[in-house]
Formats: sequence, C-alpha cells, structure tokens
Amino acid sequence: MSQRFLVTGGAGYVGSHLVTALLDRGDQVTVLDNLRTGHRAAVPAGANLVVADLADGDKIDAVLANPGQGHAGQGHAGQGQAGQGAPAWDAVFHFASLSQVGESMRMPMRYLLDNAANGIRLIDACVRHGVGRFVLSSTAALFNLDSDAPIPEDAPIDPQSAYGDSKWMIERALRWAGQVHGLRHACLRYFNAAGADPAGRLGEDHRPESHLIPLVIDAALGRRPALDVYGDDYPTADGTCIRDYVHVSDLAAAHLLAVEALAQGSVVWNLGNGAGHSVKQVIASVERVSSLKVPYRIVARRTGDAAVLVASSHRAQQAGWRPVHGDLDDIVRTAFAWRQTHPDGYGD
Ligand SMILES: NC(=O)c1ccc[n+]([C@@H]2O[C@H](COP(=O)([O-])OP(=O)(O)OC[C@H]3O[C@@H](n4cnc5c(N)ncnc54)[C@H](O)[C@@H]3O)[C@@H](O)[C@H]2O)c1
Repeated sequence: MSQRFLVTGGAGYVGSHLVTALLDRGDQVTVLDNLRTGHRAAVPAGANLVVADLADGDKIDAVLANPGQGHAGQGHAGQGQAGQGAPAWDAVFHFASLSQVGESMRMPMRYLLDNAANGIRLIDACVRHGVGRFVLSSTAALFNLDSDAPIPEDAPIDPQSAYGDSKWMIERALRWAGQVHGLRHACLRYFNAAGADPAGRLGEDHRPESHLIPLVIDAALGRRPALDVYGDDYPTADGTCIRDYVHVSDLAAAHLLAVEALAQGSVVWNLGNGAGHSVKQVIASVERVSSLKVPYRIVARRTGDAAVLVASSHRAQQAGWRPVHGDLDDIVRTAFAWRQTHPDGYGD
C-alpha cells in the first residue's frame, strides 16, 4: 500500500536517490530542503518540494501537521493532496545536514547548531505530531578506529570531529525519544556513498566536491588539476588509504528495508560494501572505466586520516540487505556516466 513520507534533505545527493526509490514503488513523498547544497532539479516531479530551513520551527510544525498538503508556491505541486482526515506521516527520513568534516573543525558551533540542535528539534516535533518512525542519515565519522577489521555497530563511539559528534548527539536524542516516547528509529551509518542512479536520472553534485570518486573522474576529464593523493606511506598494500565505497542506490535500498524493519523495533546499522578500496585502486578503476589517464601527485598525509575504514554491515545483511552494486568498477561506471551526461551537474 502506498505510504506517505517526509524526506528532509531530499534535494541532496543521497536523499534524492531515496526519494526516487520511494516514488518508483508508488509512495507519496514530500521533500523539505533549504537547497543550500541540494538542487531543485534533483527532486523528481512526482514529489512535493517545501523549500524551508530546519531551523524554522513553525514551518516544520506546519508540514508535520499537514501530511499530504501540496505546499503550493514552494516548488513542485505533486501527488499527495490528501487534505482533511489524511493519515499521519508513515515516517520521516532525515538527511538534511552539513557534512564536511574539515569545515566542522573550523566552525564547530555551526555544526552543533545546524545539525545537532536542528535534528533534535525535528525529533521533538515528530514526537509532538505523532510520527511513529524516524530514519537518520548517520555516519562512519562516529568511530575512531584504525584497524583492518570491518567496523561493527557496537565498536566504541569516539567522534573526532564536530560533524561526527553532531550525528552522535542526534543518535542519542533518538534513543531518548524511543525510550520515553516510543519513537521507532533507524540510525544508518553510511561509510562512503558513491556512484549514481544506474538509470541516469540522478547523480552527485556537491560544490565544492570533497568525495574521492568524483574528484578522480574530474581529474581524468581534465576538469580539475592533478589529483592530490594524501600520503602513500600508510600500512596498506599500495600505501594509500582504504575506504568502503557503497553505491548510493544500495543505500536507498537499505532505507526502504530499514523503515519496514522498524515494525519490529529500532535498529542501528553500519552500511558499507564490506570491501575496502585504496585511493590507487579507485584511480585504476576510473582509468579502466573511462579509458583516460588520471593525473595525480602524492602529497603529505592529512591529519586524522585513518589508514583503513571498512564497515561490517552484518546487521543490515541479516535483515536481508545485499549491495547489488558492490563492484568498484560498477560504482565508478555509474558515476562516470552521470558526469559525462551532466558536465555541469544539475546546472544550478
Ligand atoms: N555522502 C556521503 O558519503 C555520506 C556519508 C555519511 C553520511 N552522510 C550523511 O548523509 C546525509 C546526506 O548526505 P549527502 O551527501 O546527500 O549531502 P547533501 O549535501 O548532498 O544533501 C544534504 C541536503 O540537506 C539540505 N540541507 C542541509 N541543511 C539543511 C537545513 N538546515 N534545512 C533544510 N535543508 C538542509 C541540503 O540543501 C541538501 O539538499 C547527510 O546527513 C550526511 O551527513 C553522507
């Protein structure tokens, strides 16, 4: 049966892939986004778009109080005009966030206010408006481990940045909302989201871009200078850092599964492919997929970079999640196709 969802940050990279997956299966979706890093064109025409900031408590209350309203004048008027007597939201997916680790170390208070305070206010509003299910985009930046072993959900939490800590504060607020108010919640800790919609409808358009795969692709396409590789003297096979790249459509699929799993109780899942790839392996993959040479140079290590960060996604896999785009070349192929067909991203 069609369900009704609110997706904060649904104009962004990961959120827009979930919105599309929800619409593809016939659900009704409202996106709430201030378009700070997101794009109007990333919101499919079938979704309502409310352009608003999470800090606007009155607006959040109005949206939560009126599921299915068209929010005319804010963007697309889409499906979901249920009006009086409409059922409550079936769930809220919360993607909206600032997400630059480095920036958060220059402006920690901004991150604590924008991410943690706004996130906690959103949880409070959900409780007040009777929302029963909440799915949070959390992060691997909660962990401070440097080991070859895949990181499970119960690994020690020790965020090393204001960004990571802001997500941990929201996770803890969700625990209280669950314990005291019965809000079922899923904390989904992504490792490195990557790739693009295999059907070519969506892709990654961060400005500035900080993620490795689009940076390597742009270096190959000559759209930026040679790529800086931060250190090749780490204790890994080729000396460069290893990260866990998980396809953005696989992440969207994990959200669909998680929101249904909430019928049994709250969940915390780490989401990654479970197979790490080094920076040099990513460069080699882009060269294979594009038949282009990637210009790069080795520079000094960055402070705080762990040698290896790979997820154990055991819990999500037990619930039936299987990444279908686990192969690095598959991930790179979809990202490269998007970049070729959208050289200016969403064009805004
Ligand atoms: N991309 C990754 O690799 C990755 C990894 C781990 C966790 N995450 C988390 O996943 C979520 C989505 O990441 P993304 O890469 O899609 O980011 P993104 O920047 O593309 O999307 C975030 C969206 O939220 C909106 N937004 C931000 N602050 C807002 C506010 N105060 N009010 C309303 N809208 C606001 C932005 O305009 C944007 O559309 C974030 O919470 C991020 O921390 C992402």
